[in-house]
Amino acid sequence: MKLIIEKNEDSVAQVAADIIKKEILNNKKMNICFATGNSPLKTYNNLIKMYENKEISFKNITSFNLDEYVGISKENPCSYHYFMHQNLFNKIDINPKNINLPNGNGDIKKNGQEYEKLIVQKGGIDLMILGIGVNGHIAFNEPGSKLESRTREIELTESTIEANKIYFKNKDEVPKTAISMGLATILEAKKIILIATGQSKSQAIFNTIHGEITEKNPASFLNKHNDVTLIIDEKAAKLLKN
Ligand code: GLP
Repeated sequence: MKLIIEKNEDSVAQVAADIIKKEILNNKKMNICFATGNSPLKTYNNLIKMYENKEISFKNITSFNLDEYVGISKENPCSYHYFMHQNLFNKIDINPKNINLPNGNGDIKKNGQEYEKLIVQKGGIDLMILGIGVNGHIAFNEPGSKLESRTREIELTESTIEANKIYFKNKDEVPKTAISMGLATILEAKKIILIATGQSKSQAIFNTIHGEITEKNPASFLNKHNDVTLIIDEKAAKLLKN
């Protein structure tokens, strides 16, 4: 696992966007899996600027997303579908036909299986962008998720509901379940970058780097992958040993 510690959120976002840019320039038709949440937001802003400056194009990029809440419509401003369009897709030249998110409505089991098939059909994920939850979740793979897990419905933990309530009117509106790529799906990506900033992530980052590989900390399974880069700020690095 490669570790990059940057001064603050802005420099984390610059480094992350530069890595993504380099990958896109190397393979203009690549499949990228995007994350939602606060962690990648500034990185997405940098990608938008790079697109506006004609440094990169998303015209031939296929996108996937890690996860989506179950039971809320795509038009709901709290959905990850809405988040991605608002914060990235509507501002770049990606072809809407090439945008794929897990479907959190209808038959979730079937949606999960179809999503897995689609990823394979499109040739797999070249670049995976991850955030991390305070409890070490990646995508919505909560503690207890199996290494061999695939896209499926997951019950959100109390701490995740608590952390994500800021995006909703109140806590009661946070869906209790989500559809999420599994750990096996994530680990099949060729290259993975994980963005984490702020002190609230410091314990999860410590556990991922120094802790044991365990279902209790889903992010720890990233140690099994041969091309993972953690890009974190000094606050998230606070507990790390030298
Ligand atoms: C959310 C998402 C994850 C995200 C994580 C951290 O629950 N499902 O994909 O990486 O939690 O979110 P944030 O970046 O807002 O801290």
